[in-house]
Amino acid sequence: MWRDTTLSQLLSIAYPIIQAPMAGGATGPELVGAVSQAGGLGSFGFGYSSSDQIARGIRDVRELTDKPFAVNLFAPQAAVTDDLQVQKAIGHLHSYHVQLNIDDPQIPQLHDLYQEQIDVVIGERVPVFTFTFGLLPERDMQRMHDEGIIVGGTATNVREALMLQEVGVDFIIAQGSEAGGHRGTFAADWKKSMIGTMALVPQITSRVRVPVVAAGGIMDGRGIAASLALGASGVQMGTAFLTCPESKAAPIYKEAILASTDESTVIMTAFSGKPARGIKNLFASELEPHADDLPPYPIQNELTKAMRREATKQSRSEFMSLWAGQASSLSAVKPAAQLVADLTQEVGNIIARLE
Ligand SMILES: Cc1cc2nc3c(=O)[nH]c(=O)nc-3n(C[C@H](O)[C@H](O)[C@H](O)COP(=O)(O)O)c2cc1C
Repeated sequence: MWRDTTLSQLLSIAYPIIQAPMAGGATGPELVGAVSQAGGLGSFGFGYSSSDQIARGIRDVRELTDKPFAVNLFAPQAAVTDDLQVQKAIGHLHSYHVQLNIDDPQIPQLHDLYQEQIDVVIGERVPVFTFTFGLLPERDMQRMHDEGIIVGGTATNVREALMLQEVGVDFIIAQGSEAGGHRGTFAADWKKSMIGTMALVPQITSRVRVPVVAAGGIMDGRGIAASLALGASGVQMGTAFLTCPESKAAPIYKEAILASTDESTVIMTAFSGKPARGIKNLFASELEPHADDLPPYPIQNELTKAMRREATKQSRSEFMSLWAGQASSLSAVKPAAQLVADLTQEVGNIIARLE
């Protein structure tokens, strides 16, 4: 059976379909629980969350399902603030704050959440843990494995995949350039690591021993069957789950995804200081040309936080980060369990037809 892969065995799930973690609020317990309960693996994107929020989310999902689920965090990153660069960025952002009727941002006081986040994840002994933006400290990898937590890391090129295997991850998420959200690139110039899923997955599967999960532009059974044909043991899909009723993405964000075309998304760094794929809007068009002057992640991310939050409140999608993958126009509105059931049905039909 196609669904019986090394990944489904490793994670004890019925179907090798992971609902991608999506930090920023979309992946609450309702979505994660519904996907896991339907036989996939739901994932929380807790990269921006406090330990209390993480503990609450885990507790809530455990009330909805006794099936495995995943928690995702960002690998710890060094950040040095250059006050002059930050002042310049605040200047670039001023007119948007005026339009939203809010005060300009201040120079951010960075507070690295990683240690409190990882401690609660390990303390809760979650079934599966995934991460992006780098490598985990060796000590934390060891603590995870001591607690029996299955660990997956994100790679955007073969070199990163080999580094992840070396530090002991149990599986690798191969993130192609079609993917919505931030690039996971950590050991290369991101522009050189814009490798499409079709090219990336077979190159990584040929070089590593651990199961590989394909991510980026996969929206339906066709993408899943293709990924399996390329040697992947499963898929991770983000955009496809964003428009489910259980997703907490803002209604105006969902509308933008549903109205998008194959030409809607671009890679931009202006929102957060880190390259990410999303639907091009006014903010991206105006500020992206100044991207080289802006501070790196997470500083720029902090600077635009209030703007993005207020824009969401006021339903001003021109100032929101509308993260989405290149195949977003294939999105539909259906309950997560229905989406998982349809996906599995489609893969079965495709494989039967190919035979
Ligand atoms: C809104 C959004 C937020 C995301 N946040 C995260 C995150 O917090 N952690 C992570 O590892 N990946 C994150 N991703 C990337 C996904 O894991 C995955 O690579 C991507 O969704 C795959 O492409 P697709 O959207 O075309 O399915 C995010 C993607 C989106 C669309």
